[in-house]
Amino acid sequence: MTGDIGIGIHDLSFATTEFVLPHTALAEYNGTDIGKYHVGIGQQSMSVPAADEDIVTMGATAAAPLIARHGADRIRTVVFATESSIDQAKSAGVYVHSLLGLPPATRVVELKQACYGATAALQFAIGLVHRDPAQQVLVIASDVSKYDLDSPGEATQGAAAVAMLVGADPALVRIEGPSGLFTADVMDFWRPNYRDTALVDGQESITAYLQAVEGTWKDYTEQGGRSFDGFGAFCYHQPFTKMAYKAHRHLLNFCGYVTDEAQIARAIGRTTAYNRVVGNSYTASVYLALAALLDEAEDLSGQSIGFLSYGSGSVAEFFAGTVVPGYREHLRTEAHREAIERRRPVDYAGYRELHERTCPADGGEHSTPAQTTGPFRLAGIRDHKRIYERRPEGRTVA
Ligand code: HMG
Repeated sequence: MTGDIGIGIHDLSFATTEFVLPHTALAEYNGTDIGKYHVGIGQQSMSVPAADEDIVTMGATAAAPLIARHGADRIRTVVFATESSIDQAKSAGVYVHSLLGLPPATRVVELKQACYGATAALQFAIGLVHRDPAQQVLVIASDVSKYDLDSPGEATQGAAAVAMLVGADPALVRIEGPSGLFTADVMDFWRPNYRDTALVDGQESITAYLQAVEGTWKDYTEQGGRSFDGFGAFCYHQPFTKMAYKAHRHLLNFCGYVTDEAQIARAIGRTTAYNRVVGNSYTASVYLALAALLDEAEDLSGQSIGFLSYGSGSVAEFFAGTVVPGYREHLRTEAHREAIERRRPVDYAGYRELHERTCPADGGEHSTPAQTTGPFRLAGIRDHKRIYERRPEGRTVA
């Protein structure tokens, strides 16, 4: 446990993109049986960023409602987790800090380890709050998942940001102390600095993920974690939602349980609603699973949730959280559903054009087409500097 004081997720909000590509459009283009997407990988559609959206605009959009509800007085740290970084030096969090008007007396940093980064951010945030329980930490996980066109990974793209306010006496989920850790140097998925699409060995990545599930669980048990039966649900990193089912089945087998499909569906089904229609949001994915669970399920007060965070390369962590009684009064279910439903469908040609856009590198002045209707946009690039703007009419619900 986290000592005498409970520390964890006090508030959580997510944002996604302006556009959405249904998998039916991808299947029609490449001749794939739609069953492979809808059932085989468990994906319905994927979020597609507009030309003027990126990890900063999504991160700011996700975080703005937290600031509107709680203010920024107690936030002294912003940790921005991403693997789709826009700069090799400056943290994307500094742009968000500015867009949200946070006080100068703040430390801001960007963290990276593939999809695992946000979990590192959460754990580091808990450490900071432990040192001074009066402080809160704003954790932002924001990513755009991009693979080559016409590659097997294409169907598992997506984009979203989750913002979490981490503090003492949290209103949503108390994070428990024991963590199961696992690191292995594998080349299952990576993205060299000179590429903006990821490279992946699909089957190897699934095997590496499953090995990490075993490794983290073994360590979690050795660290004195809860028994398998002590969990009401499991939030897995979901590069595609079927992966969560594969992972849970694997964990059941590893623990010597008979795999009962109805029981697996009960443990996982409620966590997949957002990831199924958003696609892989890398760092945000496991926390989108949590958002779906809290928003969709019956009252989970007092129940324990298992979290499995996996980042290719690879680093993984298994940890537990307890749902705080009364949490339902603090949820943002309506805003979350609106974030999904407000997306405008894009056809295959439109998606392909957006996918093929590259960031101008000539140092000239480039304005970005105004496509997003969200509160923040990337207005352009001038002298190699990204120019963001907040729409005066941009609406933020507290
Ligand atoms: P693929 O070769 O296109 O698909 O790759 P497949 O042939 O393996 O088929 C997928 C599933 O669909 C199979 O089911 C088929 O049987 C089924 P499974 O055997 O796995 O249960 N299928 C059908 N089902 C119903 N009706 C049909 C039908 N046809 C086939 N008609 C793959 C799929 C996921 C590998 C590919 O999309 C890919 O490479 N994706 C990217 C990598 C990835 O997501 N890896 C996941 C683990 S690694 C991870 O999670 C980390 C990551 O998020 C990055 C990070 O950490 O930063 C990726």
